[in-house]
Amino acid sequence: MTIPIFNTFIHPQAINTVSSVLDSTFISEGQIVKDFETELEKELGLKNCVTVNSGTAALHLALVLAGIGPGDEVIIPAQTFVATGLVVVQQYAKVVFADIDYETGNLSVESFKSRITTKTKAVIPVHWGGYPCDMDEINAIAKQHNIIVIEDAAHALGALYKNKFVGQLSDYTCFSFQAIKHLTTGDGGAVTTVHPDKYNQALTLKWFGIDRNNAQPSELGERQYDILQAGFKYHLNNYAASLGLANLNGFTERMVSRRKIAKMYDEGLKNISGIKQFIYKQDRLSAYWLYAFHVEKRLDFIKKLKEKGITASVVHQRIDRNSVFGGLDKSLINQARFDDTQIHIPIHDAVDSEKANYIVDTIRAGW
Ligand SMILES: Cc1ncc(COP(=O)(O)O)c(C=O)c1O
Repeated sequence: MTIPIFNTFIHPQAINTVSSVLDSTFISEGQIVKDFETELEKELGLKNCVTVNSGTAALHLALVLAGIGPGDEVIIPAQTFVATGLVVVQQYAKVVFADIDYETGNLSVESFKSRITTKTKAVIPVHWGGYPCDMDEINAIAKQHNIIVIEDAAHALGALYKNKFVGQLSDYTCFSFQAIKHLTTGDGGAVTTVHPDKYNQALTLKWFGIDRNNAQPSELGERQYDILQAGFKYHLNNYAASLGLANLNGFTERMVSRRKIAKMYDEGLKNISGIKQFIYKQDRLSAYWLYAFHVEKRLDFIKKLKEKGITASVVHQRIDRNSVFGGLDKSLINQARFDDTQIHIPIHDAVDSEKANYIVDTIRAGW
């Protein structure tokens, strides 16, 4: 048996839906992109959803919409992928790292509070592995200090926080539909916002700053427009959206199965010497893009599972260590502990109960 850490789920219907887009030769952005956005809003509670061509583009667009620029400080956790920090640097703003909670990998509310200065303009909580951050507390503190909240929900499509889908809780929420995410368009992403005016701005900025709806072709054939703000080539296209639409079929049912596997791991990995399970609250439900815990003798653990055909892996080591962000931030005490022991085991559409039992039994046999 070989069980990879990630897999790419392609719905059987996708072959036909993508083929029909290719047959039509209308492969650029059109109605299918709109349909995909509408379905995401309807099925997964996303508010004012604007699709783009990556999760990174979604984050960058959110920062631009939020007006982040030179001199501004943006607070982020180091437990994330580099994209979260790079977009801040690309806006010539300053990345300020806050610590995480060891038990979840998510932004520590206390640490966030302690990093606020008069220059803080935004915070980017990252829902590690798909488990929602303490959004009520983060949003309340942000409101007090006039800070814009941009959720990095690259792992968290379908996650629930106090019975609400992630994607309607804060100023902006950013998703990724990259190849190994639990809903993929090959590459792609989406930004959602609770501000209707920002929604309209996002629609324009994702395509060079041209307002498509009010830029109809003249008799000369060329669209007529006046760009007011420099935009980007961030739009999704029809064939990527058609893959996304096909993959949305049965998404909710697959999420139920994924959560069942997570429950099996929660139970099966209890009381094992050398393992510290994450502590998740009852008022929210992870999307479980990852299943994470802490392990002692990590390299031995990885090797032992590898012998048995199972890939266990560290995912995204702390990003502050990159020179572009200024190098290792020694004040991040929990981050350092997390970095030493974090591990992830397979949880995806190709992991069924039999495989989950095999993984649990293998771990219980020791390493
Ligand atoms: C936490 C986080 N944020 C942002 C991104 C960027 O997403 P994308 O690869 O779609 O640009 C990723 C990618 O995996 C991620 O893990």
